[in-house]
Amino acid sequence: MTETPRAPSVRLRDVTLADADLLEAMARREQTDGGFNDFGLAPHSIDRDVLARRPLRDDQNGTLLIERTDDATVVGTISWRRVRYGPNRESDAWMIGIDLEPGARGRGYGTEAQRLAADYLFETTSLHRVEASTDVDNLAEQRSLEKAGYTREGVNRGAQFRAGAYHDLVMYARLREDPA
Ligand SMILES: CC(C)(COP(=O)(O)OP(=O)(O)OC[C@H]1O[C@@H](n2cnc3c(N)ncnc32)[C@H](O)[C@@H]1OP(=O)(O)O)[C@@H](O)C(=O)NCCC(=O)NCCS
Repeated sequence: MTETPRAPSVRLRDVTLADADLLEAMARREQTDGGFNDFGLAPHSIDRDVLARRPLRDDQNGTLLIERTDDATVVGTISWRRVRYGPNRESDAWMIGIDLEPGARGRGYGTEAQRLAADYLFETTSLHRVEASTDVDNLAEQRSLEKAGYTREGVNRGAQFRAGAYHDLVMYARLREDPA
């Protein structure tokens, strides 16, 4: 018997001007909740003039909202930025980052969103590598990345300063030719 594929629980969509207040509130919470994305940074305000003209993405970085498919509730954000492994454009990669609202965690949304983000970046750009790095203690993110088709590559020692100390990060990546 063939199994019917499960309908996706979340989709990714562009940020619009109507989302500006929500995006600022999510960023404020992220920078004050003591979690793995809390760097104690001052909350930044969204440039509404830019957002009125275009989505929050260009050839250097981008942000999409993670939206539940059944009720269109925004449950988090996924962002990316270009990183360089050599002087030529072919050696650029995308580094992604994710943050789900606390009530939306642990339901598989992070796995789906990180899979969708790599699919989206491979479809819409020519880069060869989508990567994510996370604290060695962030076991939920490590598991979520593995389930989303990213491969664990190694540890970058003392790479990230957060909460008053340097932290080791685990690097994960999905290459264009990797199975989704
Ligand atoms: C990390 C995050 C994106 C994961 O998304 P999620 O939707 O919560 O996670 P998922 O439900 O897709 O998968 C989590 C997996 O980790 C497992 N897990 C959760 N906590 C765990 C723990 N403490 N130890 C081991 N495994 C754990 C879950 O059981 C699940 O695996 P399973 O399906 O095999 O049971 C989300 O929790 C989040 O936004 N957290 C806060 C911000 C953050 O840490 N972002 C990443 C920073 S680099």
